[in-house]
Amino acid sequence: MKAAVLYETKQPLVLEDVDLDEPKAGEVLVKVGAAGICRSDRHFMHGDARINLPAILGHEGAGTVERVGPGVTLTKPGDQVILSFVPACGRCKSCLAGYSNLCDLHMATGPFMLDGTCRLHKNGQDIHHMGKVACFAEYAVVPETGCIPVSADVPMDIAAMIGCCVPTGVGAAVYSAQVQPGSTVAVVGCGGVGLNVIMGAKLLNAAKIIAVDIRESQLEFAMKFGATHSVNASDRDPVAQVKELTGGLGADYTFEVFGSAETIKAAYDMSAKRGTVTVVGIAPMDTEASFNAVDLVRNEKTIRGTYYGSARSRNDMPAMVELYLSGKLNLDDLVVRHYGLDQINQAYDDMDQGEVGRGAIVFD
Ligand code: APR
Ligand code: ZN
Repeated sequence: MKAAVLYETKQPLVLEDVDLDEPKAGEVLVKVGAAGICRSDRHFMHGDARINLPAILGHEGAGTVERVGPGVTLTKPGDQVILSFVPACGRCKSCLAGYSNLCDLHMATGPFMLDGTCRLHKNGQDIHHMGKVACFAEYAVVPETGCIPVSADVPMDIAAMIGCCVPTGVGAAVYSAQVQPGSTVAVVGCGGVGLNVIMGAKLLNAAKIIAVDIRESQLEFAMKFGATHSVNASDRDPVAQVKELTGGLGADYTFEVFGSAETIKAAYDMSAKRGTVTVVGIAPMDTEASFNAVDLVRNEKTIRGTYYGSARSRNDMPAMVELYLSGKLNLDDLVVRHYGLDQINQAYDDMDQGEVGRGAIVFD
């Protein structure tokens, strides 16, 4: 099958034919329908995050089940499925405690399948599976717990979004921060994930939702998803601007959705007394972020991280699908660019250029 392979960081992905094994016990072969262009893949391409190489990236995907391996009961051939990049084992401490987004076995096996081996190869060499999804390819073998059946009424590109940016962003507001009605929210970074944080805050009836970005186009676009105010961080200190918009108080809930020490500090500094700072963005490895230790105590602030929006894929993705189908999540306006797999390097360049909204690779 055709796939885009990362052999070396800071080099383009290589489009080539690779071998894919049949699904083993508990695994499923999926024909990929769509794959989202997310910054998390870019972190691996740039070397800001580490993955065993060579690897096939792509962790925001959806497709159609082609064949299932022995013992599979959660899905069947013909099902349209959303792919989860944390296919949970259901048995570890994290899964049992209800945090399947942090599944211990998944994290321990990283870019290998849950049994610690690869299904992807080229000339006898293993190719690793990003998030056990690896959907920058025509087909993917994934654990059955990473397949979330979805109604065929949901377009493939939108189903793919529900595989990453929707749960990550909406979940950060709904499950992690649990934004209260009437509160003020500031979202630093309004790309694909940040727009979903905005939608989550709107869903919970936040009164004021302040979009913060360095690009005017993203700020304008954010208004379609529920932002009520915007702050251009390239003009003037975003912290001062958010304080001005909140009567000097700062925002009750702030979200960092880019991934850098600077934006984490800004999100912290613009939060109000008893405010909650939620860090969504993945900063380059080894990044240390700082905040004033006295301010933390005297103002009783809370700072927390969120991974996959604290969402439990098999439970919460179907809920996101219902929110979309009932018109409560504007995912139709989210995907603005479509590409073929052979245009994948272009798709990432467009993201770097600051194109608004989300791009998606579509397969026929
Ligand atoms: N201040 C505010 N916004 C910024 C800044 C800054 N200093 N620097 C960049 N941005 C904005 C960009 O202009 C862009 O709109 O942050 C946004 C990032 O959006 P994308 O590149 O589309 O990234 P996205 O896919 O949304 O991911 C965001 O979440 O899941 C993680 O790994 C992911 O770290 C990444 C983050
Ligand atoms: Zn992602």
